[in-house]
Order: sequence, then structure tokens, then C-alpha cells
Amino acid sequence: MRLVLVGPPGAGKGTQAQFIASNLSIPKISTGDIFRANVSGGTELGKLAKTYMDRGDLVPDEVTIAMVRDRLSEDDAQDGFLLDGFPRNVPQAEILKKMLADWGQALDLVLELVVDDDEVVRRLAGRRTCSQCGRIWHVEFDDKQDDLCDACGGTLFQRDDDKEETVRHRLEVYQEQTAPLINFYADEGILVGVDATGPVEEVTQRAMDAIRPFLG
Ligand code: AP5
Ligand code: MG
Repeated sequence: MRLVLVGPPGAGKGTQAQFIASNLSIPKISTGDIFRANVSGGTELGKLAKTYMDRGDLVPDEVTIAMVRDRLSEDDAQDGFLLDGFPRNVPQAEILKKMLADWGQALDLVLELVVDDDEVVRRLAGRRTCSQCGRIWHVEFDDKQDDLCDACGGTLFQRDDDKEETVRHRLEVYQEQTAPLINFYADEGILVGVDATGPVEEVTQRAMDAIRPFLG
């Protein structure tokens, strides 16, 4: 299964990606996570990406596409993958389509996680991520009393781009640049919308119900 998750910042793409990818035994490929790993590792790519990420702008297409091409060429992605955060605009979607076609592959399904702006702001304000295992938590919804990961004991951190004004800008960037992907993939006949409100497990259930008919 070759699957893409789209949705605004805070829709729950990363949260759902970890469960869906594990259910389907496919690698979860998150461009945001790869950029953040490069930022913490102090690489040249990380230094470049950070200037865009801190503002809430997209990292330039040529940089992002080269990174995704490398990742999708790895062995574990040959029989399927789940992309979280890529493509992020129509040019990225067009290049992904061509790249996969050159390899005799194509996307099976694009899941749109649907949630409104107020909920997004609430979710991002309380988000914490584990610095060790990457698991995503929410201080209020997961009733976190300390800064430690309940899964592995690692220290939790708050993302630099979760400040309120940056979140607002990321939402504008989503509307302007990413939302047009909805029509792009609807025209391709592979878009399915999923209500992303309610408890995490219920959203996972809805997502798996939407995926099942597309499993080969
Ligand atoms: P990226 O890391 O992709 O960020 P994003 O798209 O803004 O999305 P988020 O990760 O903020 O939200 P999410 O949907 O994953 O939500 P989550 O599951 O964490 O990108 C960051 C930056 O990298 C970009 O701004 C850009 O600069 C760059 N970049 C990345 N990809 C790029 C590309 N292709 N091209 C160019 N630049 C790129 O959930 C959020 C919170 O809500 C958590 O606390 C979670 O616990 C909670 N939550 C989740 N589900 C529920 C639920 N059902 N109920 C209650 N709480 C919930
Ligand atoms: Mg994410």
C-alpha cells in the first residue's frame, strides 16, 4: 500500500501515521521528522531547513524532493510506504507522480484528515514530542503530569514552530499551498476524507475502515 496523509498542521497526521504504518507494516516517512532530525544533528540540510521551519514556511521544493527521492529509494520502501507531510503543494505532487511512474509504481490512496482551525490551535498548543522515540503526546488530552514519555521514559519537548503566531502562519500556508492538493487527488480518483475529530483510537478506526477497500 502506497499511502499519503494530508491535512492541516495539528490534524493528527503524525499521531495517526504511527498507528496506521504499524497496522499495515509499512515505513512511515515524515518529511517534518526528517528535517527535525537534521536540525538536531546540525547538518547543512538542517541549517537550511530551520530558517524556513521557524517561520512556518515550506522548505524549497528541490531540497525536499531530493530528500524524499533518496528515502523512497531505500529497500524498506519498495513494497509500500506512508508519507506524512509530503507532498505539500501541487508541484511536489506532480513530481512524486512522475518519480513513482518511472519506478513502475503509483499511489493507492490519499487520506485527508479533516479538522477545523480552532481544534488545530488547541492541539498544537499542548503538543509534546518524545526526544527519544518520537511518540506524540498532548498535555491536556493525555493528562500529562510530567515531561517524560509514558512509552519509553524519554524527555518530552515542545516544537519551536508551535508558537501561536507561527501556527497561524502555517495554517495560511496550508490553505494557500497544500489545500489545492485535495482537488488534485480528487481528480485522480484516489482521495478519501476522514473525520479527524474525537478520540485518537476512533480516528485510527475510521482511517483503517477507509483504507481497507484499497488493500490489494
Ligand atoms: P510537519 O512536521 O509536517 O508539520 P505540520 O504539517 O505542520 O503538521 P504537524 O506535525 O504540526 O501536525 P500533525 O498533523 O502531524 O499533528 P500531530 O499528530 O502531531 O512540518 C513542519 C515543517 O517542516 C513545515 O512547516 C515545513 O517548514 C517543513 N516541511 C515538512 N514537509 C515539507 C514539505 N513536503 N515541503 C516543504 N516543507 C516541508 O497532532 C498534534 C497534537 O494533537 C498532538 O499533541 C496530538 O497528541 C494531538 N492529537 C492528535 N490527534 C488527536 C485527537 N484525535 N484528539 C485529541 N488530540 C489529538
Ligand atoms: Mg506531524
